[in-house]
Amino acid sequence: MDKLQIEGGSRLAGEVRVSGAKNAALPILCASLLTPEPLALTNVPKLNDVRTMRALLSQMGVAQHDGDGFITLDAARIDWPLAPYELVKTMRASILALGPLLARCGEARVSLPGGCAIGLRPVDQHVKGLQAMGAEIDMAHGYINARAARLRGTTYVFDVVTVTGTENLMMAATLADGVTTLENAAREPEIIDLAQCLVRMGARISGAGSDRIVIEGVARLHAAEHAIMPDRIETGTFLAAAAATHGDVVVTNADASSLTAVIDKLREAGAHIDTNATSITVRGNGALRAASVRTAPFPAFPTDMQAQFMALATLAEGASVITETIFENRMMHVQELRRLGADIEVEGNAAVVRGVARLTGANVMATDLRASACLVIAGLVADGETTIDRIYHLDRGYECIEDKLSALGARIRRVS
Ligand code: EPU
Repeated sequence: MDKLQIEGGSRLAGEVRVSGAKNAALPILCASLLTPEPLALTNVPKLNDVRTMRALLSQMGVAQHDGDGFITLDAARIDWPLAPYELVKTMRASILALGPLLARCGEARVSLPGGCAIGLRPVDQHVKGLQAMGAEIDMAHGYINARAARLRGTTYVFDVVTVTGTENLMMAATLADGVTTLENAAREPEIIDLAQCLVRMGARISGAGSDRIVIEGVARLHAAEHAIMPDRIETGTFLAAAAATHGDVVVTNADASSLTAVIDKLREAGAHIDTNATSITVRGNGALRAASVRTAPFPAFPTDMQAQFMALATLAEGASVITETIFENRMMHVQELRRLGADIEVEGNAAVVRGVARLTGANVMATDLRASACLVIAGLVADGETTIDRIYHLDRGYECIEDKLSALGARIRRVS
């Protein structure tokens, strides 16, 4: 199993390019199931989650072709409308195949995702929404079995704001009979990116990015090309790392408008940030100050940046209160940060982080994707060597992170 070794103390400086967004690429790969014609994608990140999703689509019969900087997915035939447990258990986003398979094939069998390191993460909203569109769904032997000769448009009000739930129903509705209105929909930028791709494929969608999305079903979708949006969480991770190390970094292929809440909080914490259309410059040359954050659905502070922000807060002057409202168990990094000398108290879903003068390197264990990124940032600022175990979590969602950080001057290496 690979580990990362980091010798702390380097100030990050230079330019880093952000990859395509994992959480936009995963639903968009599934959108290929909706049409018998090819979908060509660019800016697809090279990540383990993307490989897993492609393997899943391959098993279903989706032909794939890798070109120079693009991939083409061709679902002319779908042999197996099935997402088996073996793949779903490694990646919950496999649930995104449910809506497209049902809409295109009239049937789908998708394993129920099991437990997850960061919370319970039920999929009841995906199931209820499809039932409201006329699907017959039963659960047996750990699988969701869904059937519908043709889904029909309806109005569905989500009980909770769910990103992949919104994406699943939006994809299913593109081929439904009539108009579907999704109320209390998630507003994340990845939903807009998916909607733009679907519209290029011939779907009729309005309101993506608001909490009310209207989809007018069509008989068929067609071939299209689409470039995946830049990864806003990777962007935010580099901004936090640069600020924490008092660095001077230009993050390119970045969209500041998708990251306003994070940029505001980094500024509050003392970082100097300038934005333009495609890049963000961060300078962290003054002392860090405490800043409190509360995670919530977009446009509020993203849960996927909570852990990385906490790493920064460990060295800020004063006490930051970091409240997690999306997932019940997303504070696993706290124990590991404490091993590096951080002063953090957790009460319920809030962590009180009191800034310390320094962190000291130690062996730590990554528990999930964003917790891993948090530990990388902490390792960069800790005195001495930090070794991070179980970094396969990191490889699910960050493309070549150690190469990108090395190019910025970090002393970081992967060891087997
Ligand atoms: N929820 C339900 N029922 C449902 C669906 C969700 O109760 O049917 C609850 C969840 O348990 C959670 C809340 O609703 O408490 C929000 O979860 P959501 O469904 O929005 O999360 P997700 O769609 O499973 C996506 C991202 C996550 C990100 C969350 C929140 C993808 C592939 N994953 O997950 O990304 O944390 O939205 O923004 O888009 C990551 O990249 O590290 C990651 C975990």
